[in-house]
Order: sequence, then C-alpha cells, then structure tokens
Amino acid sequence: MQASAFVLFGATGDLAKRKIFPALYNLHLEGKLPERFAVFALGRKPFNDELFRVHVAESLGRFSRKGKENAAAIADFAARIQYHVLDARDPESYIRLKHAVEKRETELGLPGNRLFYLSVAPEHFGPIAMHIRESGLGNEDGRTRLVIEKPFGHDLASARSLNDTLGRAFPSDDIYYIDHYLGKPMVQNLQALIASNPVLKAVLNNHYVANVQITASETVGVEARAGYYDQAGALRDMFQNHMLQLLMMTARHSEVYDKRKIIDSVYPVNKDEAANHIVRGRYAAGEIEGNAVPGYRDEPGVDPQSNTDTYVAARLQLDDPIWRGVPFYIRTGKRLSEKSTRIVFVFKNPLESHSSEDPVRNYLSINIQPNQSVDFQLNLHGLNGEIQPVPLHFATDAEEVPEAYELLLFDALHGDPTFFAHWDEIELSWKWVQPILEAFEERIVPLHAYPAGSNGPLAADRLLAEQGFAWVEHG
Ligand code: BG6
Repeated sequence: MQASAFVLFGATGDLAKRKIFPALYNLHLEGKLPERFAVFALGRKPFNDELFRVHVAESLGRFSRKGKENAAAIADFAARIQYHVLDARDPESYIRLKHAVEKRETELGLPGNRLFYLSVAPEHFGPIAMHIRESGLGNEDGRTRLVIEKPFGHDLASARSLNDTLGRAFPSDDIYYIDHYLGKPMVQNLQALIASNPVLKAVLNNHYVANVQITASETVGVEARAGYYDQAGALRDMFQNHMLQLLMMTARHSEVYDKRKIIDSVYPVNKDEAANHIVRGRYAAGEIEGNAVPGYRDEPGVDPQSNTDTYVAARLQLDDPIWRGVPFYIRTGKRLSEKSTRIVFVFKNPLESHSSEDPVRNYLSINIQPNQSVDFQLNLHGLNGEIQPVPLHFATDAEEVPEAYELLLFDALHGDPTFFAHWDEIELSWKWVQPILEAFEERIVPLHAYPAGSNGPLAADRLLAEQGFAWVEHG
C-alpha cells in the first residue's frame, strides 16, 4: 500500500474512540498499514500530541479487539498520531493544517496521498469538504479521498444537495460513503457463499424460496443519542441505509449483480398505500435481560410528545427475473428481545399436506452478528413418527473476525470502493423511502407500541400472516 496521511476530523468524538482508532490500531498490529503513515487527529478540544496519545491509548485499552495490553505496540501506534486544534469554520485553520501536513509528509517522504475522514455532525460535511478544497489541502499531486459516515441527508432532497456540495469539492469517484453494515465480514461473504455452493445457487430463486426475511434487531434503546435519534427514527437511522444495503447484497445474483439495479427493481410503495406494506413501532416500558427499562418517550432527552419510530417492518417486492413474486420482509428495531442481524431464506412448504398447526419449515439462515454462522433447517422423521426439525449449524471463530471498520478503512486506504455505498444506491434508497417518510409524518401509518424485550409489534406478524407466513424467530 502506498504511504499516506490519514486526516481525521472529529478525532475526539465517540466514533473515533470506539471504532476508528481501534480499527487503525488493529491494522497496525497486523502489519496492514503502510510503513510510512501519518495520522492527523483534528478537534476543537485543546489537546497536545502527548495528551492526545494518552487519550488514544486509553481508548485502545478499552475498545480494541486485540492487543489491549500490548503497551509497546500501543505506544508505537500512538507515535504515528499528531493532534491539531481545528476550528472547522475558519479558513485560516485549514491553511495552518495544510502546512503541518506538508511538513510531516516531507519528513516521512510521503507522496501526498491523503485520506480525509469526516467523523463529524452532518451539517459540517459540506462546509469541511469545501474548505479542504479551497485551502488546497485536497489539491495535491497525490491521491486524495473523502470518507463520510451517515446520515447522508435527512430525506431525498437534502441527500441530493449534500452530494452536489461534496461533488464540487471532490471528484465523485473519490467520495467514499461508509455504510458499516457493508463492512461486516458475513455480509462481504454473502455472494461467495452463494456462488461457491451450487446447491445454494440452485435453490435461491422464486421456484424454491417462499419469502426472504432480513432482520436487524437490537436490545439497546436510544442510549445517549436522543438529540439525533428523535429527529431520525428507525426508518432513517437503520432502514434507508443498512437494511436496504442488506437487501441489495442479498438479492443480487449472477444475472443482476449491480446493486443499483436491485434497488431500482423494488416496486415503489405510495404514501397512500404505505400502511398496507409497512409497520411502524415504538418501544414501551418493558424488560431487557431481566432489567426493567423505560419506554422511548421516557428516555432522557426524548420529547415526551415524540412521534418517532424505533421499529420498522416492511414488505417489499422486486421486479427481478429470479425474485419476482417472492416477498422480502425487512425489519429493524431497538429494545427487542435479542441483538441479531440475519438473513433467512424460507423455502416453500415442503409438505403441503402436513396438517400440524406447526408447519414444517425448511430454511437457510445466514447469521451476520453477534456470531457469524449459518443454520440450515432440515426435517427428519422422528421415532414418534412425526416430522421433526434437524438443524445443521456452522459457526466461525468469533475471536478472529475483524471489525467492519478494519475492513473498510483498509479498503479506503487502498482505493477500493467495492464495499462502500455508492451515491446512486443512496439516492435510489432515499427515493424508495421518501413516500414512506411522508406517510409517517402525516401519520398515515399507525405507530404501534411494543413492550421492550419483545419481538416487536404484533402488526408485524400480521404483515406475514396475510400471506400465510411467519417470522423465523430464534429459540
Ligand atoms: C448505527 C445506528 O448506524 O448502527 C445505531 O445509528 C445502531 O442506532 C447501529 O445502533 C447498529 O450497528 P451494529 O453494528 O451494532 O449492528
């Protein structure tokens, strides 16, 4: 990999502490960073290099996947970091930064490859990108790239305007939109799993699959993020981005591999019919792992009159040669019974004539987290003469699974955009979601309560029951 400079805006923030520095450190431990590599950590707080390195060392001790106790490696990594106080609105700040970056690049013999990572509030994305361009910080002979994190806009119009602004500052090929779900190893593995197993490839289509279920459930509530979350809700926070990216990754196949084509093939749902296809929920008080927890409106920082969703389930249909007629059920929510992200292909009823109330099920579950595993639910005649489920289970060693940010930062440093969200996909996702957002705002879709610790609103069960299906739950 080419020597480069990593310029991190928002270096004193939560994401930097929990994810970005630990990911860089793990790459450092594995020898995956270039030998000549400089990190410029930028923030408003008055740290100096020494104090900031201590702060990073503490974060690594808490949040790194490995090497938490390796003081020598931590010190070695921290020595690559320089801290600079930066006022993101002040053009002079960028000129000073440019000089500091140039000085360090000369010292280390770096060719001017710069990766700018904006881990800041979304209103700063456009202004910072423009300052980078106008100050000349982004106009060097080497390769420059811009990495940003969601939210990419609040709706279709604001997302387009953000992309226009960024496009004035950086060539579109050099803008890397992170969707950290695309960095999860099992998500990256999906297509290889299908392509390298003809037995799967042969059956994952509308001849054999009755429905596909994509779940991302969390046990956490709104945590300390009410200021952001209460304006966003589950539809913007998880559905428009992570869930629709999971849909694209799941549904693409050898004939239609381009994710844009997949999202473009999803039949639109109009505002007026949204209530027939979408279920919206908000958690009420309940219990998580034996502990009583408050309802969403009673969470600190949440407006007691809030009308925000913490759960969304949707039924989508694709106009696609192999998936036509197969419903895709997608759901995500907070304060549910378990932390689990998984994709389940439910096969058509193997025993149409089976009379039991509990239908015989044959399905393939690809489990993305917390553990990476694959479950294949088969059936066998038991000794009692009844058909009984026989699960086949395969799991990978959790210790060795890299974090999404490690894979994504490595790719960004290499200039490999494969597992980033591309603007066309983001725009098409917003386009699909926009009428639903409006239906939510105009309260056309009812907001159902569900107790914390449950599997979500009962209305989400009805969404499947209408077509004779049920969610595949664990346990
Ligand atoms: C983030 C959302 O993008 O993803 C959070 O803003 C959510 O609300 C998080 O908790 C979930 O990520 P993961 O990797 O824990 O499934």
